Amino acid sequence: MAGDDAADCRRCCCSFIFTSGLTALFMWLSLRTCKPTCSIENFYVPSLNTTDNSSAARNNHTLYFDLKLKNGMKDKAVYYANINLTFFYTQNTSRIPVANYTVPGFHQGHEKKAHRKELVGASGLPWEAALHAVSNGSTVSFRVDLATRVKYKILFWYTKRESLVVTGDVAVDDSGGKVKKKKGIKLKSGAPDPARVGPVFVFSLTMILFLYKY
Ligand SMILES: *[C@@H]1O[C@H](CO)[C@@H](O)[C@H](O)[C@H]1NC(C)=O
Ligand SMILES: *[C@@H]1O[C@H](CO)[C@@H](O)[C@H](O)[C@H]1NC(C)=O
Ligand SMILES: *[C@@H]1O[C@H](CO)[C@@H](O)[C@H](O)[C@H]1NC(C)=O
Ligand SMILES: *[C@@H]1O[C@H](CO)[C@@H](O)[C@H](O)[C@H]1NC(C)=O
Ligand SMILES: *[C@@H]1O[C@H](CO)[C@@H](O)[C@H](O)[C@H]1NC(C)=O
Ligand SMILES: *[C@@H]1O[C@H](CO)[C@@H](O)[C@H](O)[C@H]1NC(C)=O
Ligand SMILES: *[C@@H]1O[C@H](CO)[C@@H](O)[C@H](O)[C@H]1NC(C)=O
Repeated sequence: MAGDDAADCRRCCCSFIFTSGLTALFMWLSLRTCKPTCSIENFYVPSLNTTDNSSAARNNHTLYFDLKLKNGMKDKAVYYANINLTFFYTQNTSRIPVANYTVPGFHQGHEKKAHRKELVGASGLPWEAALHAVSNGSTVSFRVDLATRVKYKILFWYTKRESLVVTGDVAVDDSGGKVKKKKGIKLKSGAPDPARVGPVFVFSLTMILFLYKY
C-alpha cells in the first residue's frame, strides 16, 4: 500500500542519516593521520675533533649522522619516498650547502622506529675557519634539511602522497660531535600542518560505503 511505502521510505531515510552520521564520525576518527617524526640522534664531524690531531682526522672531510624516523601511529603504516637530506654549514648568517644524501624510500609499520646511520662526504666547507672557531671554544652550526613524500596505509587503502619537509640546526663543538650529547635534535616543519582529512572526502567515502551496502 502507498502509506506503508511512505513509512518505509521515512524509516529508511532516517536510518540512512543516522548510519551516515556515525560512519562519518568513525571514518574521521580512523582516517586521521599524523606525520612521522624525524630527528638527528647523533652527528659527528671527524675533522673538528680537536682531541685527535692526526692529519688523517684533519683531512677527513666527512659528516656522520644518525637519523631517526618514527611512526607514532598505532594502526597505520607509512610509506616513505626517497628522503632527500641536505646539509649546510652556517657561517655568520649565510648557509653553505656542503653535502647531500638520499635515503632510499621504505615502508614502516605502525609504532616503529628506524635509524639511518651514514657517513657522507662534505665539500665547500671552510674547514680551517670551522676548526679555528671550535678550537677557541665556540660552536659551529650545521643545518639539516629533510624533504620527502609520505603516504599512509589505512586498513586496505593508501592515502595520496603528501610532502614532509622539516629542518633543524645542529651545534658542533671541539669534540666534533653535537653539543647536546644525549638528546636528539627534532627536525621541524616551518609551517603548521593543514587539516588533512577534509569533510568532503569523509562524505564521499560515506556515500561509497552506503551505495556498496545497498
Ligand atoms: C675524538 O677523537 C678521540 C681520539 O681519537 C676519540 O677518542 C674520541 O672518541 C673522538 N670523539 C668523538 C666524539 O668521536
Ligand atoms: C694535539 O693538540 C693538543 C691541543 O691543541 C696538543 O696539546 C697536543 O700536543 C697535540 N698532540 C699532538 C700529538 O700533536
Ligand atoms: C673518517 O672518519 C670516520 C668516522 O670516524 C671514519 O669512519 C672514516 O673511515 C674516516 N674516513 C677516512 C677517509 O679516514
Ligand atoms: C663571516 O665569517 C667569516 C669567517 O668566519 C669572517 O671572516 C667574516 O668577517 C664574517 N662576516 C661577517 C659579516 O660577520
Ligand atoms: C647537492 O645536490 C644539488 C642538487 O642536486 C647540487 O647542485 C649540489 O652540488 C649538491 N651538493 C653537494 C655538496 O654535493
Ligand atoms: C681565539 O679568540 C681570541 C680572542 O677572541 C683571539 O685573539 C685568538 O686569535 C683566537 N684563537 C683562535 C685559535 O681562534
Ligand atoms: C629529491 O631529490 C630528487 C632528485 O634531486 C628529486 O627528483 C625529488 O623531487 C626530491 N624529493 C623531494 C621530496 O623534494
